[in-house]
Amino acid sequence: METLDFSKASLIDFLDIEDSNLFERAEIFADFVGYLHDTNHHFYRRVSTTGSGATVSIQDKCSGLEREMIFMASNDYLNLTKHPRTIQAGVDAVLKYGSGAGSVPLLGGTLDIHIELEEKIAKMKGCEAAILYSSGFGSNCGTVLAMLKEKDLAILDMYVHASIIDGCANTNVKYFKHNDLESLEHILKSNMNFRTKFVIVDGVYSMDGDIAPLDKIVELAHQYNAYVMVDEAHASGVIGATGKGTPEHFNIEGKVDVVAGTFSKGLGSVGGYICGSKKLINLLHYYSRSYMFSTAMTPQSAASLVAAIDVIQEEPAIRAKLWDNINYFKSNLLQLGFNIGNAQTAIFPVIIGDDFKVRETCRILDEMGIYANPVQYPAVPRKLSRIRFSLMSAHTRDHLDKTLNTMEHIKKVLKITETSQKTSMN
Ligand SMILES: Cc1ncc(COP(=O)(O)O)c(C=O)c1O
Repeated sequence: METLDFSKASLIDFLDIEDSNLFERAEIFADFVGYLHDTNHHFYRRVSTTGSGATVSIQDKCSGLEREMIFMASNDYLNLTKHPRTIQAGVDAVLKYGSGAGSVPLLGGTLDIHIELEEKIAKMKGCEAAILYSSGFGSNCGTVLAMLKEKDLAILDMYVHASIIDGCANTNVKYFKHNDLESLEHILKSNMNFRTKFVIVDGVYSMDGDIAPLDKIVELAHQYNAYVMVDEAHASGVIGATGKGTPEHFNIEGKVDVVAGTFSKGLGSVGGYICGSKKLINLLHYYSRSYMFSTAMTPQSAASLVAAIDVIQEEPAIRAKLWDNINYFKSNLLQLGFNIGNAQTAIFPVIIGDDFKVRETCRILDEMGIYANPVQYPAVPRKLSRIRFSLMSAHTRDHLDKTLNTMEHIKKVLKITETSQKTSMN
């Protein structure tokens, strides 16, 4: 391991190092992180003093001095973390209920504001009922763990979120090719004998920004007596005629068996939810361990989220501005000759296909005052390593133009050719 070339190493190389115990492994990993710092290729845990917004103030790691950067890395797509109505609702809730819920939801932590939020999110998602969790990760993971056991089968799109994969610890798992209906049908057809079969997909994929063909997936799954769960993390507030998400986008509201999601992205706060039939939600109240054994979401978050859902419905101009930005950024990236895969929403992968060039791209962006994240192996295959830009409605044309101009410059200096990008997609 000592001979490992840090310039070619990735995080996965330090998961398990033969003959090194935990603390020896931590020491080797610290050397790797030191190497990333020394080469200006360390982009994790940058510290903001302002919170999410079109720009953020970032503290320099050594001097502590702050500088303003264009923030292209937030999931706060509609900038609802800073909307006056969500802030005021949160402030009022802190004054009314205090800073915490005080207990787990089953045993004293359920407040009337939680019930109001459950009803609002269930209605938004076209379902009978909803259950709230204090994180989106816990929500997905705890729900799948509660629903699927050893005689059951989870059929996952190969790009579903880690929270779903971790939730499959007690059940059987088969993966189908990303957004590929033929591959899905093949698995459905050849696995008829499992007790409960659940097809699980994201509505909008977090690394690619593309949309699942949910209408066709639901039709196919139901044809083979399988159920469907969709994770709306990156879809809520962004897609659908009124921002209600993927079922609305495809006009199939009420037809998806389980609609999951997080409150931490387009809805601007924190927490997760599962929407479905009253009876399924009731079951989860008593069998989903991340619900039963974790303190209820803060009253401030619940109240801000009730306001956020109202804002999404009552102020469509915010989403319209986001879509203006999406269309402008997309057409310009394509014109510059970048490979952005099948990006369809506010998430833009710029696929470079070389981990070193991805880190160099991030370094130059950082120098120019643009905050974007690298996505490298093992999060994506090496040949698909990329920069990920996330757009917000509050971005101005100046923010987008500065980012586009910088990317044009980077394309030249790093020789990111169209050919090398095309190869990366094969
Ligand atoms: C697709 C998807 N699902 C679930 C989650 C987990 O949500 P949270 O960050 O609210 O725990 C994320 C977030 O990172 C995500 O991208």
